[in-house]
Amino acid sequence: MNLFRQEALDVLSRHTGLEPGKIDALLERPPKSELGDFAFPCFQLAKELKKAPPQIAEELAEKVAGELELLTEARALGPYLNLFVNRQEFARSILHAPGALDEDIGTSSEGEGKVIAIDFSSPNIAKPFHVGHLRSTIIGSTLYRIFSSLGYECVGINHLGDWGTQFGKQIVGLKHWGAEKDLEDLDALNALYVRYHEEEEKNPELADEARDWFRRQEAGDPEALALWEKIRQTSLDYFKKIYDRLSVRFDHYTGESFFNDKMDAVVERADSLGLTSVSEGALVIDLEAHGIDAPALLRKADGATLYMTRDLAAACHRKKTYKFEKLLYVVGTAQSLHFRQLFKVLELMEEPWAKDCVHVNFGLVQGMSSRKGNVIYLEELLDEARNRAKEYMSANVDKRPELEDEEAVAEAVGIAAIFFSDLSKQRIKDYNFSWERAISFEGDTGPYLMNAHARIAGIIRKCGIELDPDADVTLLEEQSAHDLVSLISRYTDALREAAKTCEPSILAAYLLDLARALHSGYKELRVKGEEKKIAAARLLLLAVVKNVLASGMKILGIKPLEKM
Ligand code: ARG
Repeated sequence: MNLFRQEALDVLSRHTGLEPGKIDALLERPPKSELGDFAFPCFQLAKELKKAPPQIAEELAEKVAGELELLTEARALGPYLNLFVNRQEFARSILHAPGALDEDIGTSSEGEGKVIAIDFSSPNIAKPFHVGHLRSTIIGSTLYRIFSSLGYECVGINHLGDWGTQFGKQIVGLKHWGAEKDLEDLDALNALYVRYHEEEEKNPELADEARDWFRRQEAGDPEALALWEKIRQTSLDYFKKIYDRLSVRFDHYTGESFFNDKMDAVVERADSLGLTSVSEGALVIDLEAHGIDAPALLRKADGATLYMTRDLAAACHRKKTYKFEKLLYVVGTAQSLHFRQLFKVLELMEEPWAKDCVHVNFGLVQGMSSRKGNVIYLEELLDEARNRAKEYMSANVDKRPELEDEEAVAEAVGIAAIFFSDLSKQRIKDYNFSWERAISFEGDTGPYLMNAHARIAGIIRKCGIELDPDADVTLLEEQSAHDLVSLISRYTDALREAAKTCEPSILAAYLLDLARALHSGYKELRVKGEEKKIAAARLLLLAVVKNVLASGMKILGIKPLEKM
């Protein structure tokens, strides 16, 4: 915490009798920074003291006034006591802080030694990639970078859906209507999978055939396994190409099949704890007594294992292997019931860490699917993003500098548009994706952030002076300069808050505020042609703003470019 806030807490604590921690939680930011840097609401004290809040604010202002050092003024404004920092000292402390110009600005070590495991993306092999998988990929990879920036050791896990009854269906599709070469062609495999479902409606016996293939697969039948292995590889090659394009990486691709030999042990434990029962031939754990109507299914009547069985084995394996502090499942809200069941069963299995498992859920996206259903063809989507970015850029060509690699810029803008439109919304909300909105360089978009960053880069290139990290920043007198300094000082808090709530939109909103403050201030904060010392101070301020933008954008998966 910065010394200015600390002084506010100390002085208020002394005069109100409230704990500094309590005050920290109560302290707000005035709606406009002309009105001060901290606002202390007096409503709560009003009840205790049986006085009107404005009167308390007045009295506090008087008492506090003589004791300020880093703060310069205490002013009662209605029911609030507002405190002002000494702007010169504040600017110095923020802009001369060690690391202000380093790439790791804003990072902290508070998470050191703690592991956050994040299960994200996790598409299903032999089934199409859905919009939900894209959201999970975007949100999960961003949370990975947010937690890493706070010093946590993150473990990114792709829990591929690479085991389950769908393989039986896929194999039946191949056997009846496919050819050897289809095994290497994901589109062909998808088409066969769709065909299977169409045919199954006419001919329900196919379902028995499919079940039988999956049974053979679980029993280790060489033919079934060889087919499965090829299908898996074809899908994985495709996914990895996409992940590369999105700069998303995983520490482990331990999909459902990985837990094949680890399920018996968990089922036996559940058995021995007396949790299981047999219902219509299936092995289940009844959860009704725990407020969950649907039982957790561990084995079907034919002995086949299920999604739940593999998730139980996976959770136990992860705890043992990674010793996580928290295990985050970044999966759509549609699977809420599954995760409630999973966490409850872990709790009933007396795993004390069950409480550390979190379903980081998210809502639906409409308007992103390129063909029918909510299936998306990721490559097409990314190509479209790039093309639209190119179009937008050529329509606004007179506003832009000469680019060395137009293609690369368009690719980066396209990805920024997709990532940011997702990350800027509260994750539990459903939203409508619109290309026009996402790709625009104005408004609350990823390209707008990129633009702010590139604008500062342009100023730095053209200003004609060298960056001086020791520039006298006490010369920065403009309100807009103070607003920027104040925003910079809050970067780590934004990361912290985003981590605490697993909500990347907090970081996105923060970066938008910073970019907006820049756009409204940079004209006033001219560098080129200004008096030397003033120019140097402004240049340093802009350089630090640029550094924060770059850092935050990278965390959101957006490339900070020097020119665009
Ligand atoms: N493959 C699953 C699906 O597409 C998502 C897996 C999420 N992770 C997990 N451990 N259950 O629905």
